[in-house]
Amino acid sequence: MSDPTAAANGTLALIRTEIADARVEDIAISLGAPILTFDEAIDSTHGYFLAYRNGSLTLLDRQSLKKGGLTVDIAPRPGEQHSYPAPKKDLLAQAIGKKTETVVDATTGWAQDSLALFRMGYQVTSIERSPVMAALIRDGYQRLAQKDWVQRRELQPPNLLIGNAIRLLAGLPKTPECIYLDPMFPPKRKQSAATRKSMAVLRDILGDDLDRQQLFTAAWSATGKRVVVKSPDYAEPLGGKPSTVYSGKLLRYDVYLK
Ligand SMILES: C[S@@+](CC[C@H](N)C(=O)[O-])C[C@H]1O[C@@H](n2cnc3c(N)ncnc32)[C@H](O)[C@@H]1O
Repeated sequence: MSDPTAAANGTLALIRTEIADARVEDIAISLGAPILTFDEAIDSTHGYFLAYRNGSLTLLDRQSLKKGGLTVDIAPRPGEQHSYPAPKKDLLAQAIGKKTETVVDATTGWAQDSLALFRMGYQVTSIERSPVMAALIRDGYQRLAQKDWVQRRELQPPNLLIGNAIRLLAGLPKTPECIYLDPMFPPKRKQSAATRKSMAVLRDILGDDLDRQQLFTAAWSATGKRVVVKSPDYAEPLGGKPSTVYSGKLLRYDVYLK
């Protein structure tokens, strides 16, 4: 898939709030997207908007223009222990490996996996190629850096690299022990009502990751010890028969060991 910026095809605009915010201008310039007032946004034909709401960069569609929207959620997942490091006990941690220290998440998206890995104490590098998603992730990581528990422990939020991982993985300064992939697979049938809004929006603005096979090949060459692929239960494994599989309800983690 080419660089899928929603701004480039005219579907995205920034919204200016009453207080002038240099951050909005910076993002608009970097995305090549226009800046609108709220009223102009309502009257426009854009499908998506970025705006600061309650201190967070928020992605809005036309339904959420007045209220709501999506941000990179930096809070622990429901049921996750609030201690640091959180215990490495879920399927993701088992797939990544409890002794693994360095992980590159090559498909960061809403950063929920990168953030869960960070809270479990892994050293995480996040890669994202969509400039819109990268702006949202950067804002999430900046909010994370302000959190009391992060500052008290002098932790650095994950390092964010923006660009196509197929290229970036070949130039990493240090070989990571694990490369984690969660590309967008085509849905089995029509998107179910249970599909989370955040993932439905991602699919709408970015489409499926049609180059996921090349991404696996790049990850396999760049990893030190393992590649982990998160996959819907119906999809063929990306890299042939995995060394180990951790299966959940509707998804599985295919682990490829070197
Ligand atoms: C299904 S989402 C990932 C969701 C993520 N695991 C989370 O916890 O929110 C896939 C994301 O990977 C990104 N992506 C896919 N292929 C990529 C590549 N080759 N390089 C960089 N980013 C990529 C897409 O732009 C999209 O944002």
